[in-house]
Amino acid sequence: MVKVVVAGAAGGIGQPLSLLMKLNPLVTELSLYDVVNAVGVAADLSHIPTPAQVTGFLPNTGSGGPKSEDEQGQGAINAIRGADLVVIPAGVPRKPGMTRDDLFNINAGICTTLAQAIAQAAPKAFVLVISNPVNSTVPIFAEVFKKQGVFDPKRLFGVTTLDCLRASTFVASVVGEPTEASKYVVPVIGGHAGYTILPLLSQSQPAVPQSVMSDKSKRDALIKRIQFGGDEVVEAKAGAGSATLSMAQAGAEFAGKVLRAAFGGETGIIAPSYVNLAADEANAKTIRGEIGKDLEYFSVNVTLGKNGIEKLNPIGKIDEAEAELLKKAVEDLEPSIVKGVNFKAPPP
Ligand code: NAD
Ligand code: LMR
Repeated sequence: MVKVVVAGAAGGIGQPLSLLMKLNPLVTELSLYDVVNAVGVAADLSHIPTPAQVTGFLPNTGSGGPKSEDEQGQGAINAIRGADLVVIPAGVPRKPGMTRDDLFNINAGICTTLAQAIAQAAPKAFVLVISNPVNSTVPIFAEVFKKQGVFDPKRLFGVTTLDCLRASTFVASVVGEPTEASKYVVPVIGGHAGYTILPLLSQSQPAVPQSVMSDKSKRDALIKRIQFGGDEVVEAKAGAGSATLSMAQAGAEFAGKVLRAAFGGETGIIAPSYVNLAADEANAKTIRGEIGKDLEYFSVNVTLGKNGIEKLNPIGKIDEAEAELLKKAVEDLEPSIVKGVNFKAPPP
Protein backbone atom coordinates (compact mmCIF):
# COMPACT_ATOMS: atom_id res chain seq x y z
CA MET A 1 0.00 0.00 0.00
CA VAL A 2 1.59 3.25 -1.10
CA LYS A 3 0.06 6.65 -0.35
CA VAL A 4 1.12 9.64 -2.46
CA VAL A 5 0.04 13.23 -1.81
CA VAL A 6 0.15 16.04 -4.37
CA ALA A 7 0.08 19.44 -2.61
CA GLY A 8 -0.94 22.12 -5.09
CA ALA A 9 -2.88 19.49 -7.04
CA ALA A 10 -5.26 21.85 -8.83
CA GLY A 11 -2.54 23.96 -10.44
CA GLY A 12 -0.87 23.98 -13.83
CA ILE A 13 1.65 21.35 -12.72
CA GLY A 14 -0.56 19.78 -10.08
CA GLN A 15 -3.30 18.54 -12.41
CA PRO A 16 -1.17 16.71 -14.99
CA LEU A 17 1.17 15.51 -12.24
CA SER A 18 -1.81 14.08 -10.35
CA LEU A 19 -2.92 12.35 -13.55
CA LEU A 20 0.53 10.81 -13.99
CA MET A 21 0.60 9.67 -10.35
CA LYS A 22 -2.86 8.13 -10.83
CA LEU A 23 -1.35 6.12 -13.70
CA ASN A 24 1.58 4.89 -11.57
CA PRO A 25 0.82 1.23 -10.76
CA LEU A 26 2.72 1.37 -7.43
CA VAL A 27 0.35 4.00 -6.02
CA THR A 28 -2.70 2.66 -4.16
CA GLU A 29 -3.85 5.88 -2.48
CA LEU A 30 -3.63 9.33 -4.08
CA SER A 31 -4.49 12.30 -1.94
CA LEU A 32 -4.89 15.65 -3.68
CA TYR A 33 -4.56 18.84 -1.64
CA ASP A 34 -5.04 22.42 -2.80
CA VAL A 35 -6.63 25.61 -1.53
CA VAL A 36 -9.01 25.45 -4.54
CA ASN A 37 -10.65 22.80 -6.75
CA ALA A 38 -8.83 19.72 -5.35
CA VAL A 39 -12.11 17.87 -4.78
CA GLY A 40 -13.13 18.38 -8.41
CA VAL A 41 -9.77 17.25 -9.76
CA ALA A 42 -9.96 14.16 -7.54
CA ALA A 43 -13.49 13.31 -8.72
CA ASP A 44 -12.33 13.61 -12.32
CA LEU A 45 -9.25 11.39 -11.88
CA SER A 46 -11.13 8.85 -9.76
CA HIS A 47 -12.94 7.55 -12.87
CA ILE A 48 -9.70 6.21 -14.37
CA PRO A 49 -9.46 2.47 -13.71
CA THR A 50 -6.08 2.16 -11.97
CA PRO A 51 -5.32 0.94 -8.41
CA ALA A 52 -4.87 4.41 -6.85
CA GLN A 53 -7.94 5.49 -4.85
CA VAL A 54 -8.23 9.27 -5.15
CA THR A 55 -9.49 11.77 -2.57
CA GLY A 56 -9.47 15.55 -2.80
CA PHE A 57 -8.86 17.81 0.19
CA LEU A 58 -9.40 21.55 0.67
CA PRO A 59 -8.22 23.46 3.75
CA ASN A 60 -11.55 22.72 5.46
CA THR A 61 -11.87 19.06 4.47
CA GLY A 62 -12.33 16.85 7.52
CA SER A 63 -10.84 13.38 7.78
CA GLY A 64 -14.27 11.81 7.29
CA GLY A 65 -15.11 13.82 4.14
CA PRO A 66 -15.82 17.41 3.29
CA LYS A 67 -16.58 20.15 5.82
CA SER A 68 -16.55 18.41 9.17
CA GLU A 69 -17.20 21.35 11.55
CA ASP A 70 -14.58 20.43 14.15
CA GLU A 71 -11.79 20.06 11.60
CA GLN A 72 -11.84 23.47 9.92
CA GLY A 73 -8.35 24.33 8.67
CA GLN A 74 -7.16 20.76 9.11
CA GLY A 75 -7.46 19.83 5.43
CA ALA A 76 -3.72 19.73 4.78
CA ILE A 77 -3.13 17.51 7.80
CA ASN A 78 -5.96 15.19 6.80
CA ALA A 79 -4.69 15.00 3.21
CA ILE A 80 -1.13 14.24 4.25
CA ARG A 81 -1.77 11.87 7.19
CA GLY A 82 0.16 8.62 6.73
CA ALA A 83 1.68 9.59 3.36
CA ASP A 84 4.65 7.68 1.98
CA LEU A 85 5.54 10.42 -0.50
CA VAL A 86 4.47 14.06 -0.75
CA VAL A 87 5.19 15.98 -3.94
CA ILE A 88 4.81 19.75 -3.78
CA PRO A 89 4.02 21.94 -6.79
CA ALA A 90 2.13 24.47 -4.60
CA GLY A 91 2.88 28.14 -5.08
CA VAL A 92 3.11 30.97 -7.52
CA PRO A 93 4.86 30.65 -10.91
CA ARG A 94 6.95 33.31 -12.70
CA LYS A 95 5.85 35.88 -15.23
CA PRO A 96 8.20 37.37 -17.89
CA GLY A 97 10.87 39.59 -16.36
CA MET A 98 10.84 37.79 -12.99
CA THR A 99 13.53 35.59 -11.50
CA ARG A 100 12.66 32.50 -9.48
CA ASP A 101 13.93 34.37 -6.44
CA ASP A 102 11.19 36.97 -6.97
CA LEU A 103 8.75 34.21 -5.91
CA PHE A 104 10.50 33.75 -2.57
CA ASN A 105 8.30 35.93 -0.36
CA ILE A 106 5.02 34.25 -1.23
CA ASN A 107 6.22 30.70 -1.83
CA ALA A 108 8.36 30.58 1.33
CA GLY A 109 5.23 31.04 3.44
CA ILE A 110 3.31 28.36 1.51
CA CYS A 111 6.23 25.92 1.87
CA THR A 112 6.49 26.60 5.61
CA THR A 113 2.80 25.80 6.13
CA LEU A 114 3.03 22.59 4.12
CA ALA A 115 6.26 21.54 5.86
CA GLN A 116 4.55 21.96 9.24
CA ALA A 117 1.65 19.79 8.09
CA ILE A 118 4.05 17.09 6.82
CA ALA A 119 6.05 17.18 10.07
CA GLN A 120 2.83 16.58 11.99
CA ALA A 121 1.00 14.14 9.71
CA ALA A 122 3.66 12.16 7.85
CA PRO A 123 7.10 12.79 9.36
CA LYS A 124 8.64 9.82 7.56
CA ALA A 125 7.34 10.67 4.09
CA PHE A 126 9.65 11.25 1.15
CA VAL A 127 9.25 14.96 0.37
CA LEU A 128 9.75 16.17 -3.20
CA VAL A 129 9.88 19.95 -3.55
CA ILE A 130 8.95 21.53 -6.89
CA SER A 131 7.91 25.01 -5.62
CA ASN A 132 10.36 27.73 -6.61
CA PRO A 133 12.89 29.01 -5.83
CA VAL A 134 13.97 25.40 -5.22
CA ASN A 135 17.46 26.55 -4.17
CA SER A 136 15.80 28.22 -1.14
CA THR A 137 12.55 26.29 -0.61
CA VAL A 138 14.34 22.97 0.05
CA PRO A 139 16.32 24.58 2.94
CA ILE A 140 13.00 26.01 4.22
CA PHE A 141 11.51 22.51 4.42
CA ALA A 142 14.63 21.22 6.18
CA GLU A 143 14.58 24.02 8.75
CA VAL A 144 10.92 23.40 9.62
CA PHE A 145 11.59 19.67 9.93
CA LYS A 146 14.64 20.34 12.14
CA LYS A 147 12.55 22.57 14.40
CA GLN A 148 9.92 19.83 14.70
CA GLY A 149 12.61 17.20 15.36
CA VAL A 150 11.74 15.10 12.28
CA PHE A 151 14.43 16.06 9.76
CA ASP A 152 15.86 13.14 7.80
CA PRO A 153 18.10 14.46 4.98
CA LYS A 154 17.77 11.13 3.17
CA ARG A 155 14.06 11.84 2.58
CA LEU A 156 14.09 15.42 1.30
CA PHE A 157 14.54 16.11 -2.41
CA GLY A 158 14.56 19.24 -4.56
CA VAL A 159 13.19 18.20 -7.96
CA THR A 160 15.66 19.21 -10.68
CA THR A 161 14.57 16.57 -13.18
CA LEU A 162 13.22 19.12 -15.64
CA ASP A 163 16.78 20.36 -16.18
CA CYS A 164 17.77 16.79 -17.07
CA LEU A 165 14.85 16.41 -19.50
CA ARG A 166 15.83 19.68 -21.16
CA ALA A 167 19.46 18.57 -21.35
CA SER A 168 18.45 15.34 -23.12
CA THR A 169 16.17 17.16 -25.56
CA PHE A 170 18.48 20.07 -26.38
CA VAL A 171 21.59 17.87 -26.74
CA ALA A 172 19.76 15.56 -29.16
CA SER A 173 18.61 18.57 -31.14
CA VAL A 174 22.11 20.08 -31.43
CA VAL A 175 23.57 16.71 -32.34
CA GLY A 176 21.00 16.38 -35.12
CA GLU A 177 19.12 13.44 -33.59
CA PRO A 178 15.94 15.14 -32.33
CA THR A 179 13.92 11.94 -32.38
CA GLU A 180 16.49 10.20 -30.13
CA ALA A 181 16.28 12.70 -27.25
CA SER A 182 15.68 10.21 -24.44
CA LYS A 183 18.88 8.31 -25.24
CA TYR A 184 21.10 11.20 -24.05
CA VAL A 185 21.49 11.13 -20.25
CA VAL A 186 23.32 14.20 -18.96
CA PRO A 187 23.97 14.72 -15.24
CA VAL A 188 22.85 18.22 -14.23
CA ILE A 189 24.36 19.36 -10.93
CA GLY A 190 24.37 22.49 -8.75
CA GLY A 191 20.92 23.96 -8.24
CA HIS A 192 17.78 24.98 -10.09
CA ALA A 193 18.12 28.59 -11.28
CA GLY A 194 20.15 30.15 -14.08
CA TYR A 195 23.89 29.71 -13.65
CA THR A 196 23.42 27.35 -10.69
CA ILE A 197 22.15 24.80 -13.26
CA LEU A 198 25.27 23.02 -14.48
CA PRO A 199 24.84 20.36 -17.17
CA LEU A 200 27.91 18.14 -17.35
CA LEU A 201 28.08 17.61 -21.11
CA SER A 202 31.45 15.90 -20.72
CA GLN A 203 29.67 13.11 -18.78
CA SER A 204 26.80 12.63 -21.24
CA GLN A 205 25.92 9.01 -22.02
CA PRO A 206 26.27 8.46 -24.94
CA ALA A 207 28.98 11.08 -25.42
CA VAL A 208 28.19 14.41 -27.05
CA PRO A 209 30.17 14.31 -30.33
CA GLN A 210 33.48 16.20 -30.56
CA SER A 211 31.96 18.37 -33.31
CA VAL A 212 29.84 19.99 -30.58
CA MET A 213 32.20 19.69 -27.60
CA SER A 214 35.08 21.41 -29.38
CA ASP A 215 32.95 24.09 -31.04
CA LYS A 216 32.95 26.71 -28.26
CA SER A 217 30.06 28.81 -29.51
CA LYS A 218 27.86 25.75 -30.15
CA ARG A 219 28.68 24.29 -26.77
CA ASP A 220 28.20 27.58 -24.87
CA ALA A 221 24.84 28.11 -26.56
CA LEU A 222 23.74 24.58 -25.65
CA ILE A 223 24.69 25.02 -22.00
CA LYS A 224 22.98 28.41 -21.85
CA ARG A 225 19.79 26.98 -23.36
CA ILE A 226 19.69 24.29 -20.64
CA GLN A 227 20.41 26.83 -17.88
CA PHE A 228 17.72 29.24 -19.10
CA GLY A 229 15.19 26.74 -20.50
CA GLY A 230 12.68 27.89 -17.90
CA ASP A 231 12.78 31.45 -19.29
CA GLU A 232 12.04 30.12 -22.77
CA VAL A 233 8.71 28.73 -21.51
CA VAL A 234 7.91 31.73 -19.29
CA GLU A 235 8.39 34.06 -22.26
CA ALA A 236 6.40 31.85 -24.66
CA LYS A 237 3.51 31.69 -22.16
CA ALA A 238 3.67 35.50 -21.97
CA GLY A 239 2.25 35.98 -18.48
CA ALA A 240 0.23 32.74 -18.26
CA GLY A 241 2.80 30.99 -16.06
CA SER A 242 5.84 28.78 -16.46
CA ALA A 243 6.54 25.18 -17.44
CA THR A 244 3.69 22.94 -16.28
CA LEU A 245 3.36 19.92 -18.59
CA SER A 246 7.07 19.19 -18.96
CA MET A 247 7.39 19.74 -15.19
CA ALA A 248 4.55 17.33 -14.49
CA GLN A 249 6.36 14.71 -16.57
CA ALA A 250 9.63 15.49 -14.78
CA GLY A 251 7.99 15.34 -11.34
CA ALA A 252 6.24 12.07 -12.13
CA GLU A 253 9.46 10.59 -13.49
CA PHE A 254 11.42 11.50 -10.35
CA ALA A 255 8.62 10.45 -7.95
CA GLY A 256 8.36 7.19 -9.91
CA LYS A 257 12.08 6.53 -9.34
CA VAL A 258 11.82 7.23 -5.60
CA LEU A 259 8.81 4.88 -5.38
CA ARG A 260 10.44 2.12 -7.45
CA ALA A 261 13.51 2.20 -5.19
CA ALA A 262 11.51 2.34 -1.95
CA PHE A 263 8.56 0.07 -2.74
CA GLY A 264 9.25 -1.63 -6.07
CA GLY A 265 12.33 -3.58 -5.00
CA GLU A 266 14.57 -1.97 -7.65
CA THR A 267 18.20 -1.23 -6.87
CA GLY A 268 20.79 1.04 -8.45
CA ILE A 269 18.39 3.79 -9.54
CA ILE A 270 20.36 7.02 -9.92
CA ALA A 271 18.97 10.50 -10.58
CA PRO A 272 20.17 14.04 -9.93
CA SER A 273 18.42 15.90 -7.10
CA TYR A 274 19.06 19.02 -5.01
CA VAL A 275 19.67 17.67 -1.52
CA ASN A 276 21.08 18.39 1.91
CA LEU A 277 24.58 16.94 1.77
CA ALA A 278 24.19 15.56 5.31
CA ALA A 279 22.26 12.73 3.61
CA ASP A 280 25.60 10.97 3.08
CA GLU A 281 28.36 12.59 5.12
CA ALA A 282 31.12 10.32 3.79
CA ASN A 283 30.58 11.34 0.18
CA ALA A 284 29.55 14.89 1.13
CA LYS A 285 33.14 15.43 2.17
CA THR A 286 34.35 14.47 -1.30
CA ILE A 287 31.66 16.58 -2.98
CA ARG A 288 32.50 19.63 -0.85
CA GLY A 289 36.13 19.15 -1.88
CA GLU A 290 35.09 18.99 -5.53
CA ILE A 291 33.01 22.17 -5.34
CA GLY A 292 35.59 23.96 -3.21
CA LYS A 293 33.04 25.23 -0.69
CA ASP A 294 31.36 24.02 2.47
CA LEU A 295 27.80 24.23 1.07
CA GLU A 296 24.92 22.54 2.90
CA TYR A 297 22.88 21.92 -0.29
CA PHE A 298 23.86 20.88 -3.81
CA SER A 299 22.38 18.87 -6.64
CA VAL A 300 24.28 15.69 -7.47
CA ASN A 301 23.54 12.25 -8.82
CA VAL A 302 21.77 10.42 -6.00
CA THR A 303 21.49 6.65 -5.65
CA LEU A 304 18.01 5.84 -4.40
CA GLY A 305 17.09 3.02 -2.03
CA LYS A 306 14.44 1.77 0.39
CA ASN A 307 14.97 4.71 2.75
CA GLY A 308 15.44 7.43 0.16
CA ILE A 309 18.98 8.58 -0.45
CA GLU A 310 21.35 5.65 -0.25
CA LYS A 311 24.38 7.44 -1.64
CA LEU A 312 25.44 10.85 -2.93
CA ASN A 313 27.64 10.29 -5.94
CA PRO A 314 30.70 12.52 -6.19
CA ILE A 315 30.80 14.77 -9.24
CA GLY A 316 33.79 13.00 -10.75
CA LYS A 317 35.86 14.12 -13.71
CA ILE A 318 34.79 17.37 -15.37
CA ASP A 319 36.59 19.41 -18.00
CA GLU A 320 38.13 22.87 -17.74
CA ALA A 321 35.10 24.75 -19.05
CA GLU A 322 32.83 22.95 -16.58
CA ALA A 323 35.21 23.72 -13.72
CA GLU A 324 34.81 27.43 -14.53
CA LEU A 325 31.02 27.10 -14.66
CA LEU A 326 31.09 25.24 -11.34
CA LYS A 327 32.71 28.25 -9.64
CA LYS A 328 29.91 30.50 -10.89
CA ALA A 329 27.24 27.97 -9.87
CA VAL A 330 28.61 27.77 -6.32
CA GLU A 331 28.90 31.56 -6.07
CA ASP A 332 25.25 32.07 -7.12
CA LEU A 333 23.89 29.18 -5.07
CA GLU A 334 25.30 30.14 -1.67
CA PRO A 335 23.13 33.24 -1.00
CA SER A 336 19.97 31.35 -2.03
CA ILE A 337 20.76 28.62 0.50
CA VAL A 338 21.42 31.18 3.23
CA LYS A 339 18.14 32.95 2.40
CA GLY A 340 16.15 29.71 2.76
CA VAL A 341 17.92 28.63 5.95
CA ASN A 342 17.34 32.04 7.58
CA PHE A 343 13.70 32.39 6.56
CA LYS A 344 11.40 33.04 9.47
CA ALA A 345 7.70 32.74 8.67
CA PRO A 346 5.64 35.61 10.08
CA PRO A 347 3.30 34.45 12.86
CA PRO A 348 -0.10 33.28 11.49
P1 NAD B 1 -0.09 27.32 -10.56
O1 NAD B 1 -0.39 28.68 -10.05
O2 NAD B 1 -0.71 26.89 -11.84
O3 NAD B 1 -0.48 26.24 -9.46
C1 NAD B 1 -0.10 26.37 -8.13
C2 NAD B 1 -1.17 25.74 -7.26
O4 NAD B 1 -0.76 25.86 -5.90
C3 NAD B 1 -2.55 26.44 -7.38
O5 NAD B 1 -3.56 25.49 -7.69
C4 NAD B 1 -2.75 27.05 -6.02
O6 NAD B 1 -4.12 27.08 -5.61
C5 NAD B 1 -1.94 26.10 -5.15
N1 NAD B 1 -1.61 26.65 -3.84
C6 NAD B 1 -1.32 27.92 -3.49
N2 NAD B 1 -1.13 28.01 -2.16
C7 NAD B 1 -1.27 26.77 -1.67
C8 NAD B 1 -1.20 26.21 -0.37
N3 NAD B 1 -0.93 26.96 0.71
N4 NAD B 1 -1.41 24.89 -0.23
C9 NAD B 1 -1.70 24.11 -1.30
N5 NAD B 1 -1.79 24.58 -2.55
C10 NAD B 1 -1.59 25.89 -2.72
O7 NAD B 1 1.50 27.20 -10.64
P2 NAD B 1 2.35 26.07 -11.38
O8 NAD B 1 2.64 26.49 -12.75
O9 NAD B 1 1.73 24.74 -11.15
O10 NAD B 1 3.75 26.16 -10.57
C11 NAD B 1 3.81 25.83 -9.21
C12 NAD B 1 5.22 26.07 -8.67
O11 NAD B 1 6.16 25.18 -9.29
C13 NAD B 1 5.77 27.47 -8.94
O12 NAD B 1 6.43 27.95 -7.79
C14 NAD B 1 6.76 27.27 -10.07
O13 NAD B 1 7.75 28.25 -10.10
C15 NAD B 1 7.32 25.92 -9.70
N6 NAD B 1 7.99 25.19 -10.80
C16 NAD B 1 9.10 24.48 -10.48
C17 NAD B 1 9.78 23.74 -11.45
C18 NAD B 1 11.00 22.94 -11.11
O14 NAD B 1 11.71 22.52 -12.02
N7 NAD B 1 11.27 22.64 -9.86
C19 NAD B 1 9.29 23.75 -12.77
C20 NAD B 1 8.14 24.48 -13.06
C21 NAD B 1 7.50 25.21 -12.06
C1 LMR C 1 11.47 25.86 -14.91
O1 LMR C 1 12.68 25.61 -14.91
O2 LMR C 1 10.77 25.76 -15.93
C2 LMR C 1 10.81 26.24 -13.61
O3 LMR C 1 11.73 26.45 -12.60
C3 LMR C 1 9.85 27.38 -13.77
C4 LMR C 1 10.53 28.69 -14.04
O4 LMR C 1 10.20 29.66 -13.34
O5 LMR C 1 11.33 28.78 -14.96
